[in-house]
Amino acid sequence: MCGIVGYIGKGCAVPILVDGLKRLEYRGYDSAGIALVENGSIVIEKTRGKVVELEKLIANKEYAGTLGVAHTRWATHGVPNNTNAHPHTDCKNEIAIVHNGIIENYKTLKAYLEGKGHCFTSDTDTEVIVHLFEENHNGSLFDSICMTLSEIEGTYGLVIISKNEPDRMYAARKGSPLLIGKGDGEFIIASDVAAVVKHTKDIIYLDDGEIAEVRRDGFLVKMANKEKVSKKIQQITWDIEMIEKGGHPHFMLKEIHEQRSSLQNAIRGRLNPNQGTARLDGLLGYMNKLKNTSRIILTSCGTSWHAALIGEYLIEELAGIPCEVEYASEFRYRNPVVRKDDIVFVISQSGETADTLGALREAKQKGGTVLGICNVVGSTIARECDAGVYIHAGPEIGVASTKAFTSQVLVLLMVALMLGRMRSLSKEEGRAIVKEIESIPSVIEKVLKNDDKIKEIGLRLAAHNNALYLGRGYNFPVALEGALKLKEISYIHAEGYPAAEMKHGPIALIDENMPVIAIATKDITYEKIMSNISEIKARRGWVLSIVNSGDVKIKEVSDEIIEVPESKPYVTPIINVIPLQLLAYHVAVARGCNVDQPRNLAKSVTVE
Ligand code: G6P
Repeated sequence: MCGIVGYIGKGCAVPILVDGLKRLEYRGYDSAGIALVENGSIVIEKTRGKVVELEKLIANKEYAGTLGVAHTRWATHGVPNNTNAHPHTDCKNEIAIVHNGIIENYKTLKAYLEGKGHCFTSDTDTEVIVHLFEENHNGSLFDSICMTLSEIEGTYGLVIISKNEPDRMYAARKGSPLLIGKGDGEFIIASDVAAVVKHTKDIIYLDDGEIAEVRRDGFLVKMANKEKVSKKIQQITWDIEMIEKGGHPHFMLKEIHEQRSSLQNAIRGRLNPNQGTARLDGLLGYMNKLKNTSRIILTSCGTSWHAALIGEYLIEELAGIPCEVEYASEFRYRNPVVRKDDIVFVISQSGETADTLGALREAKQKGGTVLGICNVVGSTIARECDAGVYIHAGPEIGVASTKAFTSQVLVLLMVALMLGRMRSLSKEEGRAIVKEIESIPSVIEKVLKNDDKIKEIGLRLAAHNNALYLGRGYNFPVALEGALKLKEISYIHAEGYPAAEMKHGPIALIDENMPVIAIATKDITYEKIMSNISEIKARRGWVLSIVNSGDVKIKEVSDEIIEVPESKPYVTPIINVIPLQLLAYHVAVARGCNVDQPRNLAKSVTVE
């Protein structure tokens, strides 16, 4: 979703701001813009389209300003066009702002401001903020910011500059992430660490309600009542190589191929082969609660929700604790029952998804213990949970989540193992699971070797407009995830189903134009899924099956197969999803789609 970059320092702001915007492109957006304090005036350049369009716009202009803000906008109020693009300014063109989030009472405020003579140039909710700054300005921009923030309802990550204060940049946060990168005589404010990491690893995360005043030589963080807040400077561990393509044509392909190492990073130091268990340090303070809980709720969105579904199967099988999985967006608004001894796991790659954050707060407010499974260190969800586990997948830039998914499932497997060992899972059983987990990275390596064959199949699939994915047991959520990957990046309509449900509806869709992708690796439902495939073949369907190496039975009833090594059912989701990720990737490339930034989607969904 929208991205923010702000710069104050000694250097020329434009290249730093534009580079920052490029680093945020992966989040999804439809227009881009920049505002500078240049020779005592505010200069704005903005355009519909990608950052490359903005670059063209400013290519022959020379800007020397050392204070500026920049933005990539994902349209919410008003179509994506030049005037709705951020930054926005007041009537006198003295103040410029960029904003992430949604102002809910903007209509009332707009009518009030128009009544006071303010002229609006855009259809955005954001523009009311800058006019309110102007309206409330009584000598101090900081005071006007405080007053304005008390009048607006909704969420914001805001960065503000004024031509009258060329030595200051302001930032304010409520519900939309913002952080400050501290350099040498310069500061970069951004909505995402990816825009900052090239320049500094010293990060200050802003919390809700805080307003930062940043100068070239330092910064102050205050609350709206002017009370000072002392902030910690934290070191990030990511570096610039981690957010570059490293020779791959797309981030998504790079991230798929990184899964051997991302999974190794999730495992490192967390297994105890002797005791046959896992040790998750982030949860140590909650071991008693985990041991005694009578119910676990898992909540998340999108791909993370699919990981949660697998988590339910894992925890119920290995630990025998009743689990429920909820879409975060439903959980937060349906008055769910959360009891004091319930453990609620919130799962989020970005740690910023608005609905997941809402569910977290709802669960906390109801007295549940909330534990996070996150990728982005220092993210809002990671900070607001009672405790949690990082998946350590490294930055995921491709909008379609891949390596984060497998690491989430792996962490959930380790959680289930740990919980199981606290209950009735024997040491021997635990040891066997540890061994199986340890072998995952090398199995992944083998699966990735199928890439060429999957590409070939992908070329054929690319001609279709629909696809069905089938799986059972642990692989039902994998079918959902395979279908989600395909629709997200290739725009082919795809659905995932538990294979046995076929005859309750979807089988009516089967003909030679409906490709079916069946996950048919060996587990207790193997024979059943073979029958399901035969039923499809009997109706002239085309079937691609994911099978274990050397399987002949399913091969006989399928049109195409992709082989993966045989493993225990509880690790198969991590393995079987890899060919489906590659398949979606190659289909999307063959259809000429923008794989890393699919239309209408955002990496981090920070609005409801
Ligand atoms: C967006 C992304 C998905 C992701 C979902 C949840 O829709 O495009 O890839 O699965 O948000 O995101 P989270 O960061 O909370 O896992």
